[in-house]
Amino acid sequence: MDNAGLLEELQQKLEAAYKTLPLATQKTDIVHGEGDSRAKIMCIGEAPGREEALQRRPFVGRSGKLLRKVLEEVGLPPAKVFISNIVKVRPPENRDPTPIEIAAYRPYLNQELEILKPEIIVTLGRFSMAKFLPEVKISAVHGRLHKVQWEGVDIFVLPMYHPAAALRSSRMMESFIADFKKIPKILTWIKEQRGTESLKQGIKEILF
Ligand code: URA
Repeated sequence: MDNAGLLEELQQKLEAAYKTLPLATQKTDIVHGEGDSRAKIMCIGEAPGREEALQRRPFVGRSGKLLRKVLEEVGLPPAKVFISNIVKVRPPENRDPTPIEIAAYRPYLNQELEILKPEIIVTLGRFSMAKFLPEVKISAVHGRLHKVQWEGVDIFVLPMYHPAAALRSSRMMESFIADFKKIPKILTWIKEQRGTESLKQGIKEILF
């Protein structure tokens, strides 16, 4: 089965399990990941907001529009990446997801990752960053490429501020845009490094 089929199967599994999942009161509360099933880049946010819950699509509200615009501006049309969330149902009043909620949805996000095997994971905000980089502060590491071991595999993680934070202050907005502008250079660097020694050594935090 191809990735699109595997993702479809996963979405059906998630909907079938809605009664066992926190926050979901019906199947249609679930907002699945979307985008290119063969994407090399996966963006992971926190949880759907009001607009996302209404449209059943991730990142389509105010912060989503900003995310999609900056992706486009750095040569990554949103349809070419895969966009998802750590929690797949909107928390009431858009409050932060709890550790129990994050844990309940973890197997589904992990399966998305296993199917897609993205080259780079762009985390949006501290909750998705904590999945891969649990001991860091976002203010210290945003926009810096990291190589981490996750489930026994080396992956690149690029932690970014959440677009909602960028919308709250012009200083954050500048930072957010500057971090995204690094992506083309990072992609070129990864391509050049593939198969070389520096990539094989267990470097934890890298470069940019
Ligand atoms: N914020 C998120 O983290 N995810 C969305 O899908 C929308 C807003």
